[in-house]
Amino acid sequence: MPQPAPHPLIRRMGPWAVHEWAEALSTNDLARSLPPWSIARCDVQTSGRGRFNRPWIGAEGGLWCSFTVPLAATGTALPEWGHLPLVAGLAVLDLLDTLEINTGRLRWPNDLLVGNAKLAGILVERPSADMAVIGIGINAHNSMEDLRGKTKDPAVSIAILTTHPPTLPVLLEQLGHTLEQRFTQFAARGLPALAADLQRAWDGERPVTIQTDEGDITGTFRGIDASGNPVLRVGNGSLNTIPAHLVNRLVEN
Ligand code: BTN
Repeated sequence: MPQPAPHPLIRRMGPWAVHEWAEALSTNDLARSLPPWSIARCDVQTSGRGRFNRPWIGAEGGLWCSFTVPLAATGTALPEWGHLPLVAGLAVLDLLDTLEINTGRLRWPNDLLVGNAKLAGILVERPSADMAVIGIGINAHNSMEDLRGKTKDPAVSIAILTTHPPTLPVLLEQLGHTLEQRFTQFAARGLPALAADLQRAWDGERPVTIQTDEGDITGTFRGIDASGNPVLRVGNGSLNTIPAHLVNRLVEN
């Protein structure tokens, strides 16, 4: 897909090569043709997308970026790319920790909320067998007023949650660091390395409905099993594990 600015500014940041554009359609599309350990970031994203091909509004002031990571085998196992939204979710929570914002939580599989308001969204894609693109959009300094009524969840931003919000370059540097750490942990030991932190990240149990092609399952979200499948406590008190690949959506009730 053609992109408006063919010559990005490129700089190094730890293990990452950062490619930056003033404007782009989608950083996930730009990242597809970059090598592993690259970042594509833009100031304004005009055709950003979320899960289910929902549009993602990428106005100036937000952190719109995509990270490419290798999927080559390390040790005995290939990193299971389907778990990368969880890896990225923890990296964003780690970033919030550095800002002393302790109210963030994950909504399985890939939303970062504060209360019921969305602070960040994650879109993982796999352009080739050996590379994944982790797209992360974080409301930072962009106007929340402009988003009102245009998004499924109400929105919140870092600028609202902290009195001294860092600049975008500082936020990107911190996120690059936390994502590198979480990805390295995951690539070495798989999902078990993240299990305890994920259990905390759900921030308690919530009534939800999981929509599948076979129908809806309503219960209380209890977390995920060792393979990353969501587990609900259902009406008769038993635990019901729903294979993640059968889940169309999880909706909080
Ligand atoms: C979602 O909440 O459904 C996921 C939203 C992901 C948005 C980010 S912004 C950077 C990257 N580029 C995109 O086109 N999407 C992701």
